[in-house]
Amino acid sequence: MAKCLVLGGNGFIGSHLVDALVDAGHSVRAFDKFSKDPVYQAKDVEVFMGDFLNRADLSNAVKDIEYVFHFISTTTPITAENDPLIDVETNIRMTIELLQECVEASTVKRVLFASTGGAIYGSDKDSSLQETELPLPVSPYAIGKLTIEHYMRYFTVKHGLDSISYRISNPYGERQPLRRKQGVIPIFLEKLYNDQQLTILGDGSMVRDYIYVKDVAISIAATFDKDHKSNVYNIGTGTGVSVSELVSTIEQITGKTADKQFVAKPDTFVQKIILDTNLFVNEYGIKPTASLTDGIAATWQYIVNEHQSVE
Ligand SMILES: NC(=O)c1ccc[n+]([C@@H]2O[C@H](COP(=O)([O-])OP(=O)(O)OC[C@H]3O[C@@H](n4cnc5c(N)ncnc54)[C@H](O)[C@@H]3O)[C@@H](O)[C@H]2O)c1
Repeated sequence: MAKCLVLGGNGFIGSHLVDALVDAGHSVRAFDKFSKDPVYQAKDVEVFMGDFLNRADLSNAVKDIEYVFHFISTTTPITAENDPLIDVETNIRMTIELLQECVEASTVKRVLFASTGGAIYGSDKDSSLQETELPLPVSPYAIGKLTIEHYMRYFTVKHGLDSISYRISNPYGERQPLRRKQGVIPIFLEKLYNDQQLTILGDGSMVRDYIYVKDVAISIAATFDKDHKSNVYNIGTGTGVSVSELVSTIEQITGKTADKQFVAKPDTFVQKIILDTNLFVNEYGIKPTASLTDGIAATWQYIVNEHQSVE
């Protein structure tokens, strides 16, 4: 049983991670602002209400902890694009302070970081992208993630603080906040629920690697404390799905026909991202199990239930 701290433990990915870690028998301290009641289902979770921007909170939160999961971002791709300085002043700065606190707290064995596979490579390749591909990010959000990966490597070399960065592709599923505008699947489902038009960036041919969030959480919870051959792993399905394919799957599941509006794709959106996940799969023997249809059906059911509980 490992002592885990999940920063962002009440968020979309973090809350599923809390559930998966507790299911796997670990002890979990969930660090978050907790602007809403805990959304994870696990009981016996230590709630730590804190501010990632406050170093004293970070210092207190890492006490007696072995594994620190850094699953907070103060920006999204859109907000970082609107003001690139925010990433530098908050995410990058506070991550360095967090790493310093982890070094100070001699109990910390490893830091696990939620990086991005969806934006870090920044290239339109026909083949799927391996971790060895040179990342050439074209968005402030992904530049920030890559910078943090580099600092984690620096802390390993300089201070012996072990770390892993998970380059997560495009996660979707229950509890994904619509306000972040980061998940096209719940955004489209919500629009369809309300019989609103779907806005499609480009002509529908943009391809992404969508992974069900519980598969992300289970993959990480099953492996974070094991030996690792790499400090960076792609976490995705290795399968590309175009926006048009996605919309037809959503139409089948919801039984609704989408009214689609096509608008120009922003320059910083690459056309195609599919992750090569063989490094992780071959090392740990764990693959995502949810099909796109099953994952979207579960997300749709969640959205319907959420609406019905307030109506
Ligand atoms: N959602 C995606 O598509 C995606 C893809 C790849 C990587 N990531 C990364 O995974 C991590 C988690 O993303 P998510 O989608 O779960 O985000 P989220 O917004 O759902 O969760 C983040 C959590 O962090 C908390 N938080 C934010 N600022 C805080 C602060 N100053 N102090 C304390 N708590 C604070 C929020 O309350 C929230 O519960 C982020 O680093 C994100 O960049 C997300």
